Amino acid sequence: MALLENKVGLITGAASGIGAATARTLAREGAKLVLTDLDDAAGRALATEVGGIYLHHDVTDEAGWPAAIAAAEGLGRLDFLVANAGIGIMCSVLDMSLADWRRQMAINVDGVFLTVKYGIPAMRRAGNGGSVVMLSSVAGLRGSAGLAGYSATKGAVRLFAKSMALECAQANDGIRVNSVHPGIIATPIWGKLPPGANAPLDPDKIAAASVPIGKPGQASEIADGILFLCSDLSSHMTGAELVIDGGMTAGRINRLGT
Ligand SMILES: NC(=O)c1ccc[n+]([C@@H]2O[C@H](COP(=O)([O-])OP(=O)(O)OC[C@H]3O[C@@H](n4cnc5c(N)ncnc54)[C@H](O)[C@@H]3O)[C@@H](O)[C@H]2O)c1
Repeated sequence: MALLENKVGLITGAASGIGAATARTLAREGAKLVLTDLDDAAGRALATEVGGIYLHHDVTDEAGWPAAIAAAEGLGRLDFLVANAGIGIMCSVLDMSLADWRRQMAINVDGVFLTVKYGIPAMRRAGNGGSVVMLSSVAGLRGSAGLAGYSATKGAVRLFAKSMALECAQANDGIRVNSVHPGIIATPIWGKLPPGANAPLDPDKIAAASVPIGKPGQASEIADGILFLCSDLSSHMTGAELVIDGGMTAGRINRLGT
């Protein structure tokens, strides 16, 4: 039997990259999906491809959250949430405007907060537990020059996930909350970095220099981890970090042969 047969979930930022790969993987495993994003053309095409519902929704827009959750509840009970929408603004924070700092915080952190604030009550209404997956990053596990603002958002998500996992455990609601920490993954995010920063970046070049296995990950490889966390295969995991980074956080290797 498929891993997510009869399960219903919502994926934010689903039109591109990791979100789109996750939609394809979870749909293949039987999930019924609500996909949200700002990119309507790509989002609608993906929903047609995987047989889900697409909704235009900015994750920072609180007023739009009840409709997004209601769309998922309309497909049955809400079983999982994938808080994936995110942006990366990569430059020294000394060169970053307060507006950019706030925009990145709003999407990467407020968006995850709102996912939980509106999604967990729906899971509790259904009374059948559930799984919340939050996209953090290796940047949420350790520091990186030129990434301080992004790291601040992803570090916040890491501990938000752990604290929400404990709140749900304390409420005995059967809802698990975990964070996923991708390394360098070949998605369109690398081409979207704002002009003026060190953009655009080539994930192949960065991975060759900084990923022990020497290549970037593919979005489908992160989607496989998200599938595991959304499914009952991870039924004893909550408050945990799933690191999928080609060895980046394990340490360094020396390719110089010295
Ligand atoms: N690609 C990587 O190397 C990498 C590494 C670590 C973590 N991540 C995280 O994975 C997640 C997905 O990244 P990706 O690489 O697939 O990026 P991506 O740019 O390919 O996709 C992100 C999607 O989020 C959407 N989005 C942006 N702002 C939004 C908003 N306000 N409301 C709704 N949707 C919004 C975009 O339209 C886009 O479709 C992000 O949270 C990112 O920080 C990515």
